[in-house]
Amino acid sequence: MADYFNAQELHQMVEENRRVAHYGEVASYIPELQHADPERLGITVVPLNGKPITAGDCHLDFSLQSISKVISLMVALSDNGFERVFSKVGMEPSGEPFNSISKLETVENHIPLNPMINSGAIAVASLIKGESVDLKFEKVLEFIKKIAKNQGITINDKVYRSEMETGDRNRAVAYFMKSTGIIEGNVDEALDLYFRLCSISVTCHDLAQMAAFLANDGIVPGTHDQLIDVEIIKAVNTIMFTAGMYNESGESAMRTGIPAKSGVSGGILAVAPGKMGIGIIGPAINKKGNSIAGLRLLSNFSRRFGLHLL
Ligand code: DON
Repeated sequence: MADYFNAQELHQMVEENRRVAHYGEVASYIPELQHADPERLGITVVPLNGKPITAGDCHLDFSLQSISKVISLMVALSDNGFERVFSKVGMEPSGEPFNSISKLETVENHIPLNPMINSGAIAVASLIKGESVDLKFEKVLEFIKKIAKNQGITINDKVYRSEMETGDRNRAVAYFMKSTGIIEGNVDEALDLYFRLCSISVTCHDLAQMAAFLANDGIVPGTHDQLIDVEIIKAVNTIMFTAGMYNESGESAMRTGIPAKSGVSGGILAVAPGKMGIGIIGPAINKKGNSIAGLRLLSNFSRRFGLHLL
């Protein structure tokens, strides 16, 4: 893999895609996110058999945002099994924006369409087991630290406060799901856990390590620890492939050919199964909530190195 690609070529790809950021904007609906510099773009690649390679602005910290939905799904499936989780959330792409409410009322049994949109992720958060929100959060954070191989990962309190202050649409969705029995426990605790998980601070190196774990069937590369059952990894990768980029999931699957999950802070976690994990940051996002330069960089990278699965 060492001469498969090199840092210089990666660097060139980043520079070629940087200008695309002008067509996007930094998210502002959560005030704390709007301080990000739209011009930034960085990528880290963690091959399963080789050393990580980085190019561009990989030192940047940013919040996980919706990428945390991938992690929550792994933990909820481990805690509850497939049957229980998929009785509360579906597995179909929504074709709707990430914060959409409308379908919740009309779909059968009011089950959110998938775990990658906000409603589905809040339902998934309500299934994570633990004695208190603090303990549930600590459990998920410890898992993230392990799979990212970084004990320094922590929550960004400013982002968390900002999420709490502006999260009324998520509250509306969660209370609706409480009324329909999708959320059975304490609705405020499910929301609090969801907000906290969105506010975890990472770099694109952390994302690439987490993606490498997903590319390696649930084993942290370089160890023999099967932390998550391989069937869960397959399910999570599949759901990312069909729904990870919201109402741009079809186009993203076509252009990049690999499972990927975005967040409004501009991060993208992408998985090339059996090959590598990829982490990207590009804070300028398009109207669908995906990093505009990041997505183009990912599709160039995938094409150049033949990662398309189909
Ligand atoms: O629920 C929210 O509004 C955010 N905390 C997460 C949304 C998000 O990242 C959507 N992504 N593109």
